[in-house]
Amino acid sequence: MTSPPLAVEMRGITKVFPGVIANENVDLEVRAGEIHALLGENGAGKSTLMNILAGLYRQDAGEIRLHGQLAQLHSPSDAIRLGVGMVHQHFKLVDSQTVAENVILGLKRPAFRLDMKRTAREIEELGARYKLAVDPGAYIWQLGVGEQQRVEILKTLYRNADILILDEPTAVLTPQESEELGQTLRRMIQEPATRGHAGNKAVIFITHKLDEVVRFSDRVTVLRGGKVEATIDTAGSSKADLARLMVGRTVVFQVEKPPFQPHVTPEQRQEVLFAVKDLHALNDKGLPALNGVSLEVHAGEILGIAGVAGNGQRELAQSITGLRKVNKGQVLVRCGGIQGKLKEVTNHTPHQIIDDGLSYVPANRLGTGLAGNLPISANLILKDYRKEPLSHGPFLDRTSIGRFAERLIGAFQITTPSAERPVRLLSGGNLQKVILAREITAGKAMLVAVNPTRGLDVGATESVQRTLLEQRAQGAGVLLVSEDLDELLAICDRIAVMYEGRVMGVMPAQDANRDELGLMMAGEHIQPEA
Ligand SMILES: Nc1ncnc2c1ncn2[C@@H]1O[C@H](COP(=O)(O)OP(=O)(O)OP(=O)(O)O)[C@@H](O)[C@H]1O
Ligand SMILES: [Mg+2]
Repeated sequence: MTSPPLAVEMRGITKVFPGVIANENVDLEVRAGEIHALLGENGAGKSTLMNILAGLYRQDAGEIRLHGQLAQLHSPSDAIRLGVGMVHQHFKLVDSQTVAENVILGLKRPAFRLDMKRTAREIEELGARYKLAVDPGAYIWQLGVGEQQRVEILKTLYRNADILILDEPTAVLTPQESEELGQTLRRMIQEPATRGHAGNKAVIFITHKLDEVVRFSDRVTVLRGGKVEATIDTAGSSKADLARLMVGRTVVFQVEKPPFQPHVTPEQRQEVLFAVKDLHALNDKGLPALNGVSLEVHAGEILGIAGVAGNGQRELAQSITGLRKVNKGQVLVRCGGIQGKLKEVTNHTPHQIIDDGLSYVPANRLGTGLAGNLPISANLILKDYRKEPLSHGPFLDRTSIGRFAERLIGAFQITTPSAERPVRLLSGGNLQKVILAREITAGKAMLVAVNPTRGLDVGATESVQRTLLEQRAQGAGVLLVSEDLDELLAICDRIAVMYEGRVMGVMPAQDANRDELGLMMAGEHIQPEA
């Protein structure tokens, strides 16, 4: 039996950044007509390797063949010309432009205006063929995350990509959307490659979701510490096998929810730590996002918020933390923890609310969570620098700060050569860890976290969930917004479902199941609020 032709051959690829070997002598073979998953812990070198294949970075050593031909990739346009298209971990669409404008962005074509109609038609045709329907005339800001991703994929298909790279495509999708994406990718690899190449199109995708790897890919390459650990057939490999290859040890998938809270009494668990009452707020477009939300978070409790992205979860978190104007209703927090008093903080500044004892892990971690050009250590102390021992009066204590930063870098396994590196140079998952480390270990009595494990590898996910449960055991109240139902079911005490700015219902996690939650997420009332 002859094996199918190779779409991609990367041989001996090495890429060094100052102080870090991101890729070391990496060999990767991707067959025409296959979906090839690229797995590895945060910082393992996945994005770097794919950025080299997409012409964004130049390798220090090694060579690349595309469909058997030696390829010199000096820029993204070289890669596009040779049929390589990449959808990045952080989307690169222009918000203020339409879908069609974004799709042709960067393509040199005369008679721009005339072309728009044709482009729109071509986009519709492509959309129909790959079941990636979007309105070519819609503005990017009007689209949900899943739709924006479709635009990114259409953009590469429009450029006739024969090799499609997706960097964590499903990190931002709902379960249904990622299922659809899987179907689209399968459809793609059944199409013959263009440019006269033998064999079909090929897909490489990076993900941390092992379920998806098992379901959608034909083969898997695992990177660890910049080197290839193994390339294996997906059929016959289990999630546990993959996780072991990735981290080099056996991984526990279900964190154990401790059955009792040694640090809080049952009476204290009745106490409300923070709450919202009849909350109303608008979204960025000025449309109603919260239509009367009431919720209470108790001491020693994790309250989960389930819902399809865009149903008010983000606005709820922002309203509580002072980042979004509340038009009607109240936000209440118990200052000074369980001994303290509930006080109204509606429309207080984020600063005041931090001082009242609430920490926040936002969804958009680069935008609101981190200062990109500052070192990791500075980002880790961003909220605590005014306190002993990190500063004495007006003076920062460098030694204490260094020690503090090193401790968090160790505890959260942040991959970096030093605490003094600008935070923007970290890999996607390690960026998340910096902000999580800062917010979760702040030891505040109240925490609001939006998708805290998105983009994290299995090991890091495990440690974040464990930390949340530890906080709960200490008597903290946690509001956990997550699009990952399994995560909510595993670590929450109660789960509330949001739909169109309202709470559809709240149920104890032990009584909840995926199907019912799914129906409520689609807007059906299942049971009255408990
Ligand atoms: N532009 C850059 N400058 C300096 N160092 C970089 C740069 N890009 C990546 N690195 C470093 O290279 C290593 C590999 O990073 P990469 O982004 O490839 O990881 P990854 O496997 O994609 O991780 P994640 O799952 O977190 O996205 C990391 O240590 C990272 O800090
Ligand atoms: Mg990455």
